[in-house]
Amino acid sequence: MSSTTSTRQPLWLRCEKKEFERRAALTPTTARKLIDAGFDITVERDPQRIFDDEEYEKVGCKLVDNNTWPSAPTEIPIIGLKELPVSTDPLPHTHIQFAHCYKNQAGWAAVLTRFARGKGTLYDLEFLQDEHGRRVAAFGFHAGFAGAAAAALALADRKTNSTSGPLKGLKLEPYNNEHAMVADVKEKLSKVRNADGSPFKPKALVIGALGRCGRGAVDLFRKIGLEEDDILKWDLAETAKGGPFEEILQVDMFINCIYLSSSIPPFITLDTIRAAGPNRRLSVIADVSCDTTNPFNPIPVYNVMTTFDAPTVEVDVGEGNPPLSVISIDHLPTLLPREASEQFSGDLLPSLYQLPERKTARVWVEAEELFKKKLADAVAYEAQGGK
Ligand SMILES: NC(=O)c1ccc[n+]([C@@H]2O[C@H](COP(=O)([O-])OP(=O)(O)OC[C@H]3O[C@@H](n4cnc5c(N)ncnc54)[C@H](O)[C@@H]3O)[C@@H](O)[C@H]2O)c1
Repeated sequence: MSSTTSTRQPLWLRCEKKEFERRAALTPTTARKLIDAGFDITVERDPQRIFDDEEYEKVGCKLVDNNTWPSAPTEIPIIGLKELPVSTDPLPHTHIQFAHCYKNQAGWAAVLTRFARGKGTLYDLEFLQDEHGRRVAAFGFHAGFAGAAAAALALADRKTNSTSGPLKGLKLEPYNNEHAMVADVKEKLSKVRNADGSPFKPKALVIGALGRCGRGAVDLFRKIGLEEDDILKWDLAETAKGGPFEEILQVDMFINCIYLSSSIPPFITLDTIRAAGPNRRLSVIADVSCDTTNPFNPIPVYNVMTTFDAPTVEVDVGEGNPPLSVISIDHLPTLLPREASEQFSGDLLPSLYQLPERKTARVWVEAEELFKKKLADAVAYEAQGGK
């Protein structure tokens, strides 16, 4: 769409209402690019967003009050990241967001029937796909990056503060930028010493290392100064022999980043952990994949999700054995809201440029077809009394 076109494409960036969510679907950088391409961008003021309102104003966005999108003209598409607060209000707009309602998640039909009642449309960000069926934008890289950082912080905490029992002091908070995260992790790890006073050199194993999350985890380990030989990178080829894997017990940190699509043998079990006895090196597992409740979870040694306030859960390692902590946080990119938003929004841009042609552009047409199918399922489900 050219900026000389008389009708400019409007797009409204709404606030996020999910607790701790500081990321944004549009950043000042991508908003500016859209404006240059012929868009009019309206941005709701939002104190929880990592980007200041003024940053959007400076690049030419029109600022409006927080949470005012319900009264926006219905022809303006509304873009946001996470779910809308639970409500039964009809949704007459076009919404672009993660709605988490296509896989029969709790409350899925109630979310979709709001669109049916309002005659609105949902383009779910998780289902905007390229011609090869891959997502056009995803947060994986920064999930892996942050998961590896959290593991390194837990390791440093374990080695410097407490030798046994739960890691009580560790809390995670979003960092202003990647530089601050890397500096913090490096500083905390630098305090760890071996028994002879020499610097401690951690070793890590990343499984799923060729994927988005895995590449992010490897990048963090490189940036905090791990030696290349101390970052073991495994993907399908290395796990083809089938777990459990002794190698996991012989590193300090294990970062699981696989995309689980079928039943596979476990990577590690309580038996292998206990059998390793008191000399086990493994101290922290960051389960970035977080298939915690999946029956095929390849890390069946814990069963709860953890949080920024209490990031670790202890594995029942058996009497006399060294502690083992697991991190299983399902919104890790929130730890790096600025970079995660920039990367996601940048990856989304080519599709957003096609928004004015959304009735014919493949990426939008396919997303709308999927929405219509899911909408019909939800309407039928509610008509049968939610069964
Ligand atoms: N915790 C979070 O905050 C968070 C955020 C984003 C994504 N995720 C999750 O992380 C997982 C990975 O996402 P992604 O975007 O990196 O996926 P991806 O498809 O980009 O990468 C997955 C990688 O895992 C590898 N893999 C699959 N099965 C394997 C096996 N059995 N052994 C070894 N390697 C295997 C694949 O070859 C691929 O390289 C997904 O489950 C996703 O939902 C978690």
